[in-house]
Amino acid sequence: MQFQFTEEQLMIQQAARDFAQNELKPGVIERDEQQKFPAEQIKKLGELGFLGMMVDPKYNGAGLDTVSYVLAMEELSKIDASASVVVSVNNSLVCYGIEKYGTEEQKEKYLKPLATGEKIGAFCLSEPEAGSDATSQRTTAVDMGDYYLLNGTKNWITNGSSASIYLVIAQTDVEKGHRGINVLIVEKGMEGFSIGPKENKLGIRGSDTHSLMFTDVKVPKANRIGEDGFGFKFAMKTLEGGRIGIAAQALGIASGAYELSVQYAKERKAFGKPIADHQAIQFKLADMATQIEAARLLCIKAAWLKDQGLPYAQASSMAKLYASEVAMKTTVEAVQIHGGYGFVKEYHVERLMRDAKITQIYEGTSEIQRIVISREVLK
Ligand code: CAA
Repeated sequence: MQFQFTEEQLMIQQAARDFAQNELKPGVIERDEQQKFPAEQIKKLGELGFLGMMVDPKYNGAGLDTVSYVLAMEELSKIDASASVVVSVNNSLVCYGIEKYGTEEQKEKYLKPLATGEKIGAFCLSEPEAGSDATSQRTTAVDMGDYYLLNGTKNWITNGSSASIYLVIAQTDVEKGHRGINVLIVEKGMEGFSIGPKENKLGIRGSDTHSLMFTDVKVPKANRIGEDGFGFKFAMKTLEGGRIGIAAQALGIASGAYELSVQYAKERKAFGKPIADHQAIQFKLADMATQIEAARLLCIKAAWLKDQGLPYAQASSMAKLYASEVAMKTTVEAVQIHGGYGFVKEYHVERLMRDAKITQIYEGTSEIQRIVISREVLK
């Protein structure tokens, strides 16, 4: 068993760390306050290859492994989780889904611009009445011969307005239940497709989350991914990898808050000495460091399994479940260590605490991860 990263992996980690410090950190507080999408930063991330990290170079990707992706996601998320969620959704839900299951034409047309960040993707599964219960899709895609007629509403869609390529999951044959669900590639601008207002969120406020409405949208049959009825399995398989990305995001939020806490504890004095010299603070930092390391190992293990072509559904759910809990606990403790300063924006930890919460909700709540894990355990 190897516990060492390769030179290439370390190089990617360093590149992401530098980018986060130089490009994401300036303005991160203002973007959060103003709910401003990090458009310029995402464009640069695309140019550097961070939006198609694992995509084959023949489709304009960087051709890296999932371990490198985890390392990059951690670094970006330490500083700006609103930007890193765009990276995660584009890489592990949209690019992966099209590369793994799409046709050659779909890859040429859609994957290539997605892999460079020229276009951004969105993954549209959740609905007003189908969040965790993803088989209960109400959006319909009626088979009209050459095309599908798409009708319905999707909720809480990450990259809702910044995307131009949407993977939309919809019910074609209600009698067949989850086996009658399809996934269609929908382009922004298709007639009948409209985007609702931006959600005003607790955290990851820079990322744009919207409802999407489809009214008699004609989607060509050529835009269906996979066989008829493959949509639900497509969503489940894609989310297995997506959960690694969100686990790494949670890990980054936790380690970002931890690093700020260590630095603050060494500088801040109370009762005549740095607070780092008080055991109450030392114990908090020790717990944070231990839990973060455990979360990191789970993330890397899930990524490694995926890279080896081994089953990783349980590992990715374990990583997401644990890392998101660590993100929540760690950021709350980080605010506590910072005391009054932790409660104001300039010290970053209050934002990290707000950002942490979503990692326990999107791409399957903690309860969903427990369902996935327990099913594997009880198989
Ligand atoms: N791989 C392949 N197939 C799978 C699978 C997987 N990982 N998981 C389930 N399936 C298959 C099952 O085998 C079954 O197929 P068959 O009947 O042919 O055998 C079918 O899918 C239905 O499975 P279940 O009976 O297990 O379905 P269920 O209704 O009990 O639900 C669930 C399963 C795991 C709870 C699922 O609904 C789920 O994951 N829900 C959460 C959805 C989710 O993560 N939503 C997040 C939205 S996306 C997002 O947040 C993106 C973003 O913008 C950040």
